[in-house]
Amino acid sequence: MIKKIVNIFKKVNEDQNPWKDEKSDKVYAVAALFNTPDEIIHAAEKVSNSGYNDFDVNTPYPVHGMDDAMKLKPTRLGWFSFALGLTGTLTALGMIFYMNGIDYNNIIGGKPFFNFPSSVPVTFALTILFTGLTTVGVLIALFSKLPWLNNPLLDSEYSKATSQDKFGIYIKSTDSKFNQSEIETMFSSLGSSAVSLIYDSKVNEKKIKTPIFETGFIKILIGVGVGTAVITYFTLNWVIFQMPFDWMVIQPKVLPQEKSKIFADGFGMREPVPGTVARGFMPYEYKGMPDSLVKLLANPLPVNEKTLLTGQKRYDTYCSPCHGNYGKGDSRLRGQFPNPPTLMSEKVLNWTDGNIYHIITNGQNVMASYAKQISRDDRWAIVHYIRALQRSQNAKDSDLN
Ligand code: HEC
Repeated sequence: MIKKIVNIFKKVNEDQNPWKDEKSDKVYAVAALFNTPDEIIHAAEKVSNSGYNDFDVNTPYPVHGMDDAMKLKPTRLGWFSFALGLTGTLTALGMIFYMNGIDYNNIIGGKPFFNFPSSVPVTFALTILFTGLTTVGVLIALFSKLPWLNNPLLDSEYSKATSQDKFGIYIKSTDSKFNQSEIETMFSSLGSSAVSLIYDSKVNEKKIKTPIFETGFIKILIGVGVGTAVITYFTLNWVIFQMPFDWMVIQPKVLPQEKSKIFADGFGMREPVPGTVARGFMPYEYKGMPDSLVKLLANPLPVNEKTLLTGQKRYDTYCSPCHGNYGKGDSRLRGQFPNPPTLMSEKVLNWTDGNIYHIITNGQNVMASYAKQISRDDRWAIVHYIRALQRSQNAKDSDLN
């Protein structure tokens, strides 16, 4: 088995290692080296002005002005990025529109189900993600045509020099104007320090696939993957279930929503024992009591700036979506919930604080109880604030003094 694997690697190595590959007789390009950035810019200008298209320049670092000298057109990569970015935008918007607008409607403070501003962050992120990933992918696969391990430039003296301190230019034999001796003379007249021929590699000529696509190699990759998974599975199993530890996960217990045989009704989750009172949550003594009794409840909070500000904050958060910012019943829920009556009516004006507190605590018909969300003191603060709203909208002359 091991011998077989070693043989596959050997085979890949001997047959197809691009760096070991012999050169063919076919000229791939004529290359020239220069010593300074000025010289290479000049050479690139000359080559592009002479009408060559199939050439490229290699420099140890980016040389300013090279794009112009080579007469490079702006890359078309941006169009791909744009199209794929747009796909990301539309995917995100479509997804959010379907999920929030159609499939799973949720009323949140009276906002529309599908809302553009709140969709912006996800849309932005998905746009960036699609653009980024696909730009890199398209660049590698389509524009750079990678993986190409047998590029004839790879094991040339030319490449060694240009990855150190020389500036190189080469014209490929596929150029329509290609003429070896003419190019050699041109490079020499430009003052090149070394003009050389680059030969194609035999691997390219034979059209052998890149070694990473060799079936043997792929088999090994899959083998390593499956092997790692199997070993991990058994090792973890042994660690979790066989090692002499008391793992807390392994013990009799009932998880939320699970059935249980211990109780006659089969439910695992139980109600609190009747009469249980959680700390800080005294039960409401007036639940279900008639209004005549409830109205006697007095507001325990003093009327001062602090109370009113708390009341305003809580009212704006919990009540205003339905009752409107000024209690006029102008709901912001655009029909998602029945509109409530105004809190400025004679009826509510004549109610005692106790009556209003009672409704916040118990709810009334379709309006639910807010006892769980709003603490007792804050409910009384809201009552003070509603009183302030009522007074502000029914101001008398005496209020101006
Ligand atoms: C989800 C919407 C909604 C919210 C939020 C809401 N209410 Fe109501 N409220 C209603 C509706 C609808 C009614 C009318 C119920 C009925 O038909 O009796 C109502 C009735 C009332 C009444 C009685 C009015 C009357 O004339 O009978 C009071 C007082 C009141 N709400 C106060 C509040 C306060 C204070 C808050 C904030 C803690 C609040 N409501 C939050 C929808 C809401």
